[in-house]
Amino acid sequence: MNKAAIASLLASVILLASCASTVPGQTRAASASSQTPAPFTLLRRGVNLGNCLEAPNEGDWGFKVQQAWFKAIKDAGFDHVRIPICWSAHAAAEPPYAIDAAFLQRVDDIVGWALAQNLAVILDLHNYPEYCADPKGQRQRLYGIWENLAEHFRDMPENVLFEPLNEPNGAADACFNEDAAELIKIIRKTNPDRWIVVDGVHWSNLPNITSMKLPKDDRLIASVHMYEPIKFTHQGAEWMDGYDKYLGTKWEGSGQEKRQVDDLLNIAANMGKKLGVPVYIGEFGAYSKGDHDSRVRWTDYVARQCEARGMAWGYWEFCAGFGVYDSVAKQYDKSLLKALIPE
Ligand code: GLC
Repeated sequence: MNKAAIASLLASVILLASCASTVPGQTRAASASSQTPAPFTLLRRGVNLGNCLEAPNEGDWGFKVQQAWFKAIKDAGFDHVRIPICWSAHAAAEPPYAIDAAFLQRVDDIVGWALAQNLAVILDLHNYPEYCADPKGQRQRLYGIWENLAEHFRDMPENVLFEPLNEPNGAADACFNEDAAELIKIIRKTNPDRWIVVDGVHWSNLPNITSMKLPKDDRLIASVHMYEPIKFTHQGAEWMDGYDKYLGTKWEGSGQEKRQVDDLLNIAANMGKKLGVPVYIGEFGAYSKGDHDSRVRWTDYVARQCEARGMAWGYWEFCAGFGVYDSVAKQYDKSLLKALIPE
């Protein structure tokens, strides 16, 4: 064999070896020991179906998921949906914490609609304040709910991901590293290869991701939410005490404003490298009571800066108070959509 033939054979062996550790359509995250995770392509640009299934009952907060949305989401250029779900409102109080069958069927249908459009899906357990207030008292129930969900969704394709708890907070801040590790163990019994999204403590706010600890597992994603500056993004939000006084706050995209975003996203990106996992900005958005041009500027800047750091994002949210889509007129807010997906 001449030199060129040997070189070509060597190249094929290296290529084969690298393919063996990947699955079609995506690149596996590097193991926890690596400092430079391989690019993660399963998620890139997504949108949260907020204010639907994370209400105690779907419709309580004004929105029910519609099948037609998924085509609109796909056509706009998003590649995934994050579905916040208040599973705790649909699970029994006593072991084995059975999940209401009709509700499960409803979620199955919705997941099917998303997959039919070739959208990846994050099943996010959202709004379990009882656990955050009393982890000791509610921990077994959270574990039981996930044991049931993991069993139920075990045969789903790999582009269905699990997120065990949105925005841990309160008393859960002190124990979520350990509880998340246990939840991962429970999920792994039935879903050895499922991608699992783990939220940072204290409402998934940056910079609290720096306290995240993850068990050794090569299919984990670290998630944080980016709502800074909060007085801009949440001005006038009814659920934020006293935030009416920030109405009129603009985001001009000054050097200082951009630096604040950059610094926070750098913390997230660096922590991902340290943990050896991809980072997902699972929520970011600015409430509709703010100045529209500012919202567009901020959204565009945050999205591009996440992308520049190789971090996937999920806009908060599709069609409610932060919405990029008007579900009655069946139309996108064109400038906000362009801020998210410029092409
Ligand atoms: C969190 C909350 C959600 C809220 C959003 C923005 O995800 O669960 O209800 O709208 O943050 O504040």
